[in-house]
Amino acid sequence: MKFFVDTAKVEDIKKANDMGVICGVTTNPSLIAKEGRDFKEVITEIASIVDGPISGEVKATTVDAEGMIQEGREIAKIHPNMVVKIPMTVEGLKATKVLASEGIKTNVTLVFSANQALLAARAGATYVSPFLGRLDDISTPGIDLIRTIAEIFEVHGIETEIIAASVRNPIHVTDCALAGADIATVPYSVIEQMTKHPLTDQGIAKFQADYKAVFGE
Ligand code: E4P
Repeated sequence: MKFFVDTAKVEDIKKANDMGVICGVTTNPSLIAKEGRDFKEVITEIASIVDGPISGEVKATTVDAEGMIQEGREIAKIHPNMVVKIPMTVEGLKATKVLASEGIKTNVTLVFSANQALLAARAGATYVSPFLGRLDDISTPGIDLIRTIAEIFEVHGIETEIIAASVRNPIHVTDCALAGADIATVPYSVIEQMTKHPLTDQGIAKFQADYKAVFGE
């Protein structure tokens, strides 16, 4: 399973990239709004940091296929690594089909059922993004959805990649890897949590103490 970082915060993207563990970035309208910066400006900066797929979503207020197609074409022009993120609606599927036929990569987002994922794949989506944490939030095990989609895609030889999204903690990450997600898109705070273990810290402290006791600083 590969990792993308799920944020529009440039400092966090730089930190995750320097760590060497991510190969892409996902953003959404809420994450872009949180930064309070112009969409094109922030996406261009992100694309200059990470050499891999960068998902930029069509405007939250654009609900018709034609509008999404026009915006998708503009987003694709920002950088060769751009992936157009499109909501899972009938209009979104129509837009996905057209953009895919033009060779533009798409990430169908807000996927909450296996059938939605299957439809998105058949429309030509490069990626589908099932939202794990938001299902957990309503007492529905999100990981079951990731596992089911992975099984269906495997059985039918579907090449669309599964981006496990709405990942909220390190246990989600391990579960996504076991469930067969191709990619987990993870907030920087969770990547940091994943690096930590108290026994690692204790081990470092002991090695330092033992070394210093004999050799000094
Ligand atoms: C996915 O692409 C979304 O940006 C994100 O993972 C949503 O996460 P949230 O449910 O924690 O907002």
